[in-house]
Amino acid sequence: MDNRVFIFDTTLRDGEQVPGSQLNTTEKIQIALGLERLGVDIIEAGFPVSSPGDFRSVVEISKAVRAPIICALTRAQKADIDCAAESLRYAARKRIHTGIGSSDIHIAHKFRSTRDKVLEQGVSAVLYAKKFCEDVEFYAEDAGRADKVFLSRMVSEVIKAGATVINIPDTTGYCLPEEYGALIAYLMENVKGIENILLSCHCHNDLGLATANSIAGVRNGARQIECTINGIGERAGNTSLEEVVMILKSHASLNLYSNIETTGIYSLSQLVSRLMNMTVQPNKAIVGSNAFAHSSGIHQDGFLKHSGTYEIIDPSTVGADPSRIVLSARSGRAALNHHFKALGYEYSPEELTKVYNQFLILADTTKAITQDHLHKLAEEFKAVEG
Ligand code: KIV
Ligand code: ZN
Repeated sequence: MDNRVFIFDTTLRDGEQVPGSQLNTTEKIQIALGLERLGVDIIEAGFPVSSPGDFRSVVEISKAVRAPIICALTRAQKADIDCAAESLRYAARKRIHTGIGSSDIHIAHKFRSTRDKVLEQGVSAVLYAKKFCEDVEFYAEDAGRADKVFLSRMVSEVIKAGATVINIPDTTGYCLPEEYGALIAYLMENVKGIENILLSCHCHNDLGLATANSIAGVRNGARQIECTINGIGERAGNTSLEEVVMILKSHASLNLYSNIETTGIYSLSQLVSRLMNMTVQPNKAIVGSNAFAHSSGIHQDGFLKHSGTYEIIDPSTVGADPSRIVLSARSGRAALNHHFKALGYEYSPEELTKVYNQFLILADTTKAITQDHLHKLAEEFKAVEG
């Protein structure tokens, strides 16, 4: 099996379902061009039947973006598929993403239907979508909570109908990584024809497991991950693109790779955050403002001796600013000396201890220590010590 993992970005579809963060067409094109530069394989550009604005965005993204496949989401309904096909008219490479619920809770309460009927509706949707597009992805919504024997029947039938990619969503973010990995392994082993299609992981983050589940999926045979920049999305969000990409890059033992140009990650994260008016939490892995900041004395001392002691990723790999040594009341002499040196002050070990004691008094009552604080400390020290 090929070791390449395809990156399917759904920032503009599942990601954009965040309340209060809607994007207009111009903003979506800006993000789509950024995703193209990043090297994503597929851009899910929208759910065209949902609104005229979303339809227009898919049309315009299809015109503007040439390298990645442009994908449009539909329910398992002809009108949705007609609309998606129309919106993808200008795409150089296109995909229709259709599907239906697969768990009993969705079948009984959302569709008020039966397993047989939803299966038939799913198959018909794939057959219909194939009239417009060779590349048809099928999603078995809420697969994470579906009966796995029924799910494999559904997957097998839609493969026969012509689906080229099968998405196994953990729609509610319920699965444990072992469970999600085992579900992918089960489908890989039990579905006839699975070797001819690509299995895709689409994991939500309700329990904070979206990234772990996606990695479990690809370790068990899936070869596509659906994700968003900064992990944005409905409720607790989706799998974060930057996390899965950097996990694949950092762990050679996985023997899996993506084609993402990682140095573009940080700037695109900032762009999405700005356009969607969604601050990235400071401790967010890879792209948070503290992801490469060291503030405790023990860590700072180690980091200044060898960055590898406390950093597993060089920030330049993701296009982030160089690592920061942040001064706080938890900082040690090494960090303070590092900052003083950068400002042109040289102290003997004895002098440093004295100025450090003054620094601690200030740091205990100050939220952020600035260069101005350090200059003032140095001047006061000079006045007292000569
Ligand atoms: O989470 C989900 O199940 C989805 C599907 C529509 C693909 O977003
Ligand atoms: Zn989703």
